[in-house]
Amino acid sequence: MKSHARSHSPPLAAGPLFFASAKNPAGGLYVVLLLLLAAAPSTTTAPSYGTCAPSPDGIGRTYLGREIAQVMGHQAADWLERPEREHEEKPSLVVDLMELKSADVVADIGAGTGYFTFLMAPKVPQGKVLAVDIQQEMLDLLAAKSKQVGVKNVESVLGAEDDPKLPASAVDVVLMVDAYHEFSQPREMMESIVRSLKPGGRVVLIEYRGEDPKVNIKPHHKMTEAQAIKEMSAVGLKHLATKEDLPLQHMMIFEKPR
Ligand SMILES: C[S@@+](CC[C@H](N)C(=O)[O-])C[C@H]1O[C@@H](n2cnc3c(N)ncnc32)[C@H](O)[C@@H]1O
Repeated sequence: MKSHARSHSPPLAAGPLFFASAKNPAGGLYVVLLLLLAAAPSTTTAPSYGTCAPSPDGIGRTYLGREIAQVMGHQAADWLERPEREHEEKPSLVVDLMELKSADVVADIGAGTGYFTFLMAPKVPQGKVLAVDIQQEMLDLLAAKSKQVGVKNVESVLGAEDDPKLPASAVDVVLMVDAYHEFSQPREMMESIVRSLKPGGRVVLIEYRGEDPKVNIKPHHKMTEAQAIKEMSAVGLKHLATKEDLPLQHMMIFEKPR
């Protein structure tokens, strides 16, 4: 697997060449610039990827200590649309708790068949839902449902594994349901998602509770709250709240600083 490690911030240079002296008065300025560079919050720091022996549901690649899960294939799309889902996971409650405004632009990233896309679309009649996925087959199913339901404010976007292909500073709320833990390049995805958010925009992250052994989901498809906060904080998002109203999942809310 190719490495996605990025270079660290430049190390502080040492040695007499870089210090101010009567002969080299600009040296002090140089040192100050280096100190500012080293202190600045940087997205160029190493993304903390690693490798491990692949688990049955993992890809053998780690991010901040977590093994990334395999992508759920479109062949399992029926599972996303199962009728008992409303009872088991309360998706309608998720959308209510999101407190969407009628003109919001929402991005449903890892939208799959659009289960959440079509719950959100009526809540943003003056806005729209951008449904992003990397599997064209999922987007085809979503397009068929869009036609069937007759909604006009849903746009599908074929993303890349490292880029949801969203416009900059254009999105009010990003929703990711049972998808983030599958991103093979979570750091690059999240950096791009943060760029797509307006200042003060929110990320709503729904993941099966990793701390709870009673949540009967494959371990790599669950996340602990602490791990999720660690990964969102790594791209500069602020944790606002975790709502524990759902039977199986954490609903974690983050904000892009204004
Ligand atoms: C388990 S499904 C969840 C679908 C939907 N959110 C739902 O809850 O019904 C996860 C989806 O995330 C998508 N996915 C995985 N990696 C992705 C990425 N980097 N960008 C966008 N979508 C991704 C998969 O293709 C899959 O459709």
